[in-house]
Amino acid sequence: MKKILVTGSAGYIGSTFTYEALKRHHIIFGLDNFSNSTPKYIDFFKEKFHENFYFSELDLSISKIDLKKIIFSFKPDVILHFAGLKAVGESEQKPDLYWKNNVNATLNILDCIDKNTDLIFSSSATVYGNSSEQPLNEKSRIQATSVYGETKIASEKLIKEASLSKGIKAISLRYFNPVAAHKDFVISEDYLNKPNNLMPKLIESAKKNLNSIDIYGKDYATRDGTGERDYIHIQDLVEGHLKAIEKLKAIENIEFYNLGTGNPISVLELIDTFNRVNKLNIKKNFVARRKGDVEVCYADPSKAIHELGWKAKYNLAEMCRDAWAAVNYELK
Ligand code: UD1
Repeated sequence: MKKILVTGSAGYIGSTFTYEALKRHHIIFGLDNFSNSTPKYIDFFKEKFHENFYFSELDLSISKIDLKKIIFSFKPDVILHFAGLKAVGESEQKPDLYWKNNVNATLNILDCIDKNTDLIFSSSATVYGNSSEQPLNEKSRIQATSVYGETKIASEKLIKEASLSKGIKAISLRYFNPVAAHKDFVISEDYLNKPNNLMPKLIESAKKNLNSIDIYGKDYATRDGTGERDYIHIQDLVEGHLKAIEKLKAIENIEFYNLGTGNPISVLELIDTFNRVNKLNIKKNFVARRKGDVEVCYADPSKAIHELGWKAKYNLAEMCRDAWAAVNYELK
């Protein structure tokens, strides 16, 4: 049983992790400023896990004194830093917001901790940018193609420097494309703004009976001409975090791990599978490429497999089924 401070605990990934960690009897202190989420899941945790869940509404990028007080009194073994803005397009329009929000928050956390608190950071495959070297391993070249990507790279660098200078043990987990929902179907990917990513947009289409989805580009140099990604079931992603927590004691300063399946899936494959397993008929509408999109992006997950003892278990059909099932369960 660990004491875990979870930033971004109301968001899609942070709340799914929090739920699973609470089920496993860890003590969780959640933080969120609800800038891109609602208190829905926080209220649910307070009710269901009132003995081991605490929460404070806080903007990490500005409230360093409050954060310090919470860390001082809660004394977490580890901080899981999920909080962050993640829309690639928005990051290009509002770079200052992304630098302030994502990087200041990381800096403030690092300022508030010493070697008694470990850190696990939510990084992203976006740190590899547009690379022709596929699959991507942790030694692949780091390069950003967006401001969002820059903020993830900068945060990783800051964490590395703090781990070396202050003796903080840290793990940066580079997520590929997390989708679907926890298998208890109590949380689904919620968003306040219009979704940009493929799976939430498919769900939106299915929910609103829009009957069609735009496919950005059909002339990529891939098997079927559409972009390929490494979609990973969120249950597998959360398990990767729990394995990373166990690994921390064996780490000297910082390690980086890809969390992906290692299987490239095209946009067409994902839509066809979503339609088939959920008995839906969302039509495909080909449009121009989306600016800034990479052609292919998938993981070499072997470092996580060997060093964390973690491997993604769920296949694409299960991801598509669970993504839609969670929404339907919640709608009832
Ligand atoms: C991007 C970022 C990722 C970030 C994520 C969250 C990169 C390389 N990836 O993921 O780091 O965490 O956003 O915001 O910067 N697509 C369609 N139609 C749609 C939506 C998407 O065809 O309506 C296609 C895209 O062109 C792409 C694939 O679906 O080929 C996946 O897109 P998306 O779900 O947005 O994720 P990424 O762009 O991979």
